[in-house]
Amino acid sequence: CGIVGYIGHRDAFPIIIKGLQRLEYRGYDSAGIALFDGNQINLVKTKGKVEDLRNKANSISNEGTIGIGHTRWATHGVPNDVNSHPHYSNSGDLVIIHNGIIENYESIKKELTKRGYTFTSDTDTEVLVNLIEEVKKTEDVKLGQAVQIALNQVVGAYAIAVFDRKKPDEIVVAKLGSPLAIGVGENEFFIASDASPFIEFTNNAVYLEDEEMAIVRLGKEIKLRKIKNDAVAYPRILELQMNLEEIEKGGYDHFMLKEIYEQPRAIKDTYRGRLLADQGIIRMAGIDQNLEKFMNANRIIIVACGTSWHAGLVAEYIFEDLARIPVEVEYASEFRYRNPVITEKDVLIAISQSGETADTLAAIKLAKEKGAFVFGVCNVVGSSIARESDAGAYTHAGPEIGVASTKAFTTQITVLTLLALKLAKEKGTFSETEFHEFLTELETIPSKVERALEANPLIEIISDVYKDSTNCLYLGRGYNFPVALEGALKLKEISYIHAEGYPAAEMKHGPIALIDEHMPVFVIATKKGHYEKVVSNIQEIKSRKGKIIAIVTEGDEQVKELADHVIEVPETLESLSPLLTTIPLQLLSYHIAVMRGCNVDQPRNLAKSVTVE
Ligand code: G6P
Repeated sequence: CGIVGYIGHRDAFPIIIKGLQRLEYRGYDSAGIALFDGNQINLVKTKGKVEDLRNKANSISNEGTIGIGHTRWATHGVPNDVNSHPHYSNSGDLVIIHNGIIENYESIKKELTKRGYTFTSDTDTEVLVNLIEEVKKTEDVKLGQAVQIALNQVVGAYAIAVFDRKKPDEIVVAKLGSPLAIGVGENEFFIASDASPFIEFTNNAVYLEDEEMAIVRLGKEIKLRKIKNDAVAYPRILELQMNLEEIEKGGYDHFMLKEIYEQPRAIKDTYRGRLLADQGIIRMAGIDQNLEKFMNANRIIIVACGTSWHAGLVAEYIFEDLARIPVEVEYASEFRYRNPVITEKDVLIAISQSGETADTLAAIKLAKEKGAFVFGVCNVVGSSIARESDAGAYTHAGPEIGVASTKAFTTQITVLTLLALKLAKEKGTFSETEFHEFLTELETIPSKVERALEANPLIEIISDVYKDSTNCLYLGRGYNFPVALEGALKLKEISYIHAEGYPAAEMKHGPIALIDEHMPVFVIATKKGHYEKVVSNIQEIKSRKGKIIAIVTEGDEQVKELADHVIEVPETLESLSPLLTTIPLQLLSYHIAVMRGCNVDQPRNLAKSVTVE
């Protein structure tokens, strides 16, 4: 979910609506806004998108210089008008927005019901706002204190903003688990899940830490306080360098397409300043300062979710192949609940674009408790995972807005490749010459990605042929097996076509039964890496009349004979090939989704950043 709040001298409505639109990547099942017009709180909410909210809000007074808004990704209760935020307390004085989950809300609700409270929604949030109201009344305390006492009674994760109709010069915010930033302007404050809603108004921001709350009052400095005790912290005001243009579409029809095309630049940005090919050096502060942790590691455990997990699988091949370090790749959600064996000699690498994925964050905390060294690979600077990790490396891909991850994936692979290479050199598993050749080749990747992108018109034609398929199979071997998984995931996510990724050789143990003339099979068949074996797999598909779309190395002849369509990518080292083979698969899913009329940037039921487990 995404939250936005404003208190100051401007009209809050346009600021909050625009801010919510920037945060729609965090969820868009429903949206709502509450504004205080000097007299009463006007509240509007609706199922659907922020645009629907804007239209609906036109019917009420949208005046006011204090307000809060929310775009929701449903956890408790189906997405409908009633369950949308903000929520009132029973008296109608307090109004709240909340991102996260209150786990013990049932028992609190029972208690409040006994005391006469009634609830109009199924949400945990409505329970929380009434708990705050009850505390405020029975303990006779100010709003800030009431929030603090109430939060000490709840179990769960949250970022909240609440204000009181009777005291409309302050907003109280608090955070545990979900992100929350406060933009600090001239006698005005902005509240948001990340800085994008307020970046055009101010570069100064305070990021709340877990278990911190803040009282944001007009004409006063922000008051920061620990939720657990009364310790007061000084607001740490950061100067942001994010630029708004970066978060807007820049001429492309969709963010996803823009982000696919940004990959040559994004990959370059990832290694810029780190890869000093002429000197034969890779410089990464997070590793340089902790080299012995990596050198003495028994193994590396990689945890991640979704596309980031696929990047982790590619990294497994790279680490084992180049640096000869054993690697295990885990879904964060499985790892954290499995009672895993973790020792102080383990290094855990957490990969996350957003840096906010709840399961990945929890996996890190578990590993840290057991004494493992935690290294974060995140895209969002200052995100929760980045802050929780012992050390890390940012991907520097720039903001990724499309829900389906593209440039985050290739830049994650790039960072992990740098890391593996560095360790390979330190460990001596790679000769000086090999190392040098590798670095030189890595520097050619951005221009090779550009060449791979030139296949776009052909890919559009192929997409048109297969856009009405109901099932697709993606096959690859070795380094390109994870790419097959990622190709299938991209198609599923945005076009809603069922797709499955499989190791090409494993196909004969199951998926081959599905192959007939209606089944498109996307095969990664580049020259380096089990080429002959993949060619045999292609023959197996062909003899069962499957349609073959192959990703091949430029100039390939053999597969061209067998396949229905081929898409060429430039030649490179096998271990760098995922950076190229993934490009046509991203474009294919993009075009198919557009042709099917799907909402490419905001596919149904998905969220960019999953801050609930
Ligand atoms: C969600 C997104 C995916 C992403 C996954 C992990 O499911 O829709 O695109 O790969 O979360 O997110 P993270 O931010 O941790 O990489």
